[in-house]
Amino acid sequence: MKQFTMEIDGKEIKAAEDMTVLDAAFAAGIEIPALCFSRQYGACNSCMVCAVRELDKDIIPACSTKVRSGMRVDASSPEVREFRKNALEFLLAEHVGDCDAPCRLSCPVFFDVPAMLHKVAANDFSAAAGLVHAGMPLPHLSCMLCKRRPCEKACRRGRHDTALDIVAILHALLKTEDFPTAECHVKYSVAVIGGGCAGLAAADMLSKHDCHCTVFESGDKPGMEIAGLLALEKSGLLENELARLAAAGIEFKCSAKIMPEDIAGRLIKEFDAVLLCVGSQNMTAFSSLLKTDENGAFTRLQSFMTSLEGVFAAEDMAIQASGIQAVADGVELGHAVISWLEHGRHFIAENRYDHRFGEVTAEDMQQFADGANNIKTAVTDNAGAGLEAARCLHCDCRKYENCLLRKYASGYMTQQFRIPSQRHAFKRINCGDIIYEPGKCIRCGICIKIGETEGKATGPVFNGRGYEVEMGAPLGHSMTEALEGIGLQCAVACPTGALSQKT
Ligand code: SF4
Ligand code: SF4
Ligand code: SF4
Ligand code: FES
Repeated sequence: MKQFTMEIDGKEIKAAEDMTVLDAAFAAGIEIPALCFSRQYGACNSCMVCAVRELDKDIIPACSTKVRSGMRVDASSPEVREFRKNALEFLLAEHVGDCDAPCRLSCPVFFDVPAMLHKVAANDFSAAAGLVHAGMPLPHLSCMLCKRRPCEKACRRGRHDTALDIVAILHALLKTEDFPTAECHVKYSVAVIGGGCAGLAAADMLSKHDCHCTVFESGDKPGMEIAGLLALEKSGLLENELARLAAAGIEFKCSAKIMPEDIAGRLIKEFDAVLLCVGSQNMTAFSSLLKTDENGAFTRLQSFMTSLEGVFAAEDMAIQASGIQAVADGVELGHAVISWLEHGRHFIAENRYDHRFGEVTAEDMQQFADGANNIKTAVTDNAGAGLEAARCLHCDCRKYENCLLRKYASGYMTQQFRIPSQRHAFKRINCGDIIYEPGKCIRCGICIKIGETEGKATGPVFNGRGYEVEMGAPLGHSMTEALEGIGLQCAVACPTGALSQKT
């Protein structure tokens, strides 16, 4: 094979004549996004998300343009990135779906409510409990502290008949399922000053990330502020939570009033990080140790780090205003500490593109409700929880974690624009083990190529013209027939949530 040199982003690259620009960039470690291209099935040339500029020439698709000797390619300039961003926005303008469900988006701790519900609906209660353990801080307390229950208020099902009893389902799990106490590989030791909502939530989060936490509480017992907020002592929820935290390896030192000199003289040497979760109003007690900025703040924006390296504070927490917000802030503080311990830098939340469905019509609702259990069930035990969870409309996208369209839309800071009159109708088609949602199809053509490659005469095809073009079954056949034998391959290769495995 003839070899020659070319240039991508000013970098000299050795390439073989059968390579595309995308192959050459990949070999040189330069990332170019691609949606309608698959390594196995080749290029479909329909999305233009892989656009690059051949210097002094045109914008070209990297996935299907063969390299030439001496070719010079711009794969990363602002102009090229803008072109790709426009291509993504064009695809998203006619997209119909939610990446994350309304219930999850409205949860202050961003708990993956639908993932738990899907496991409960499948009667896989231990997997559901595992998700609660991994993703919900202070699971016995958080939903009780979240008095307005925004997840249930936002539940789409509420607009159809009644919202799901999300909190009751979670509490049914807490009653019956043992929470797995994950083996903690201790890498860091962290001192948490203050055993309130934020301190306990931060300790809970850090203990799930290889930290041994010691919580110093000035009172007789941690969580008394929470008990005060909720009058929980009788219900035993606080006791259950403290027992769970202790089983996870968190150590509690009560009646321990920590003074500034304790931090400077002892804690900062004994621990890898020290967290002050004492409430903003109490931070002045540490002013002999910590400097404030011109605005009187003890911490630097977003990093939660004080003027003393390794000492963090949660000074903005408004515990009295909302216990759940303090829990959420404690989790965020935990992320900041982990980022600093692991990478020596401040935590920067990843930009995450979130496509929103928007207004739901009565017809859309019929599509959502099709296949769901439509009978409301009281949640008194796991069996009832399973039936109630089966009412969930699965508003979350089945590919929310591995959708390529979402990945690139996030990376390119893409916005969602929609001309309302042009929205496609929402459809959800059951095809055996596969679900097809045409509104999420970007008409890349990969599934059609799979059908052709596999020699399937009745495989998927494009139907219609112009704006109405839709991937579907050939005339006289159903979508189930079109995907028969190739459904799984198509669902795996589909770059969006248009084709996905039923969960
Ligand atoms: S297909 Fe991708 S972008 Fe669309 S809703 Fe699903 S995850 Fe979001
Ligand atoms: S129907 Fe299910 S996924 Fe949709 S908002 Fe309600 S709980 Fe969440
Ligand atoms: S359904 Fe087929 S044509 Fe549509 S995005 Fe998925 S693979 Fe591409
Ligand atoms: S045109 Fe190249 S990946 Fe779509």
